[in-house]
Amino acid sequence: MGEVDPAFIQDPEHRPKLSIIEAQGIPLIDLSPLNAADSISDPKAIEGLVREIGNACKDWGFFQVINHGVPLHKREKIETAARKFFAQPLEEKRKIRRDEKFVVGYFDTEHTKNVRDWKEVFDFLVEEPTLVPASPEPEDKEETQWINKWPENPPELREVFEDYSQEVEQLSLKLMGLIALSLGLPEDRFKSCFKDQTSFIRLNHYPPCPSPQLALGVGRHKDGGALTVLAQDEVGGLEVKRKTDGEWIRVKPTPNAYIINVGDIIQVWSNDKYESVEHRVMVNSEKERFSVPFFFNPAHYTQVKPLEELTNKQNPAKYRPYSWGKFLTHRRLTNFKKLKAENLQI
Ligand code: SIN
Ligand code: FE2
Repeated sequence: MGEVDPAFIQDPEHRPKLSIIEAQGIPLIDLSPLNAADSISDPKAIEGLVREIGNACKDWGFFQVINHGVPLHKREKIETAARKFFAQPLEEKRKIRRDEKFVVGYFDTEHTKNVRDWKEVFDFLVEEPTLVPASPEPEDKEETQWINKWPENPPELREVFEDYSQEVEQLSLKLMGLIALSLGLPEDRFKSCFKDQTSFIRLNHYPPCPSPQLALGVGRHKDGGALTVLAQDEVGGLEVKRKTDGEWIRVKPTPNAYIINVGDIIQVWSNDKYESVEHRVMVNSEKERFSVPFFFNPAHYTQVKPLEELTNKQNPAKYRPYSWGKFLTHRRLTNFKKLKAENLQI
């Protein structure tokens, strides 16, 4: 048996297999037509790209992009800063931990489906303050202000983060434009949804785990937001559930690529044309792993519902509208309850 605390142990049917299937992985898409100065005069290349993105969203819910326009040195800087931050003693990191008031910051524990994840995280809001309802009750009009906490070390983290987040936000908007086109919508259809965004960036650190066959870095889950733009390091460990047969497929690290996935909001907007797909993270006993996801989320006052342009009598809306802000508040409160139930210090 492993040496890990039972809180981390997955039920037998959810434990990772140590064999990996990498063949026929998620599509790799070259975004260079977007960056070409003459892209306007080359509509064929853009059309091809839109088709590739549409197929990837439909078949996998996931794809990787290269030639995406995010400068490598900015990505390297945030990855280096993350390593420096996590290398500090726990007491230091806990100085800026999340608590009831501060929802972002450092956290040395998180749960996915009631099992503890083998990781530590640090979250930052892309826009501050981010306004979110204080309670999920419909009659509650109060809002909480979510504000970032910055560590003393490394001192450059804030600047590096701000520099990086602008770049991934631009990339995310471009991708949303291509996704809109692939759904037969105008390229700027989603642009206004991200005004007053509730997006955040997460720094993930997965330390080596003595029992990688029993625990997971992140248990199986779907992303609740619109789009996720993930930088993973060369260690690898992300697995995606293949839609055709439910098999877990490892996403092979491609240097300087981003892994993109559709979240629940795009699934609802597209009325199930593009589905949010389950994924999880394997850990390993020798190497630590770092990853930096950007969660592109709309404003808290967004009512998420299938787009009218994509529904009709033959294809009626499959979802009732829901408030993104209330969903966020509910998720946060549930997380705190779980931690309290385990008597973890928060
Ligand atoms: C996640 O899905 O939350 C994390 C992905 C990763 O670290 O690869
Ligand atoms: Fe995820």
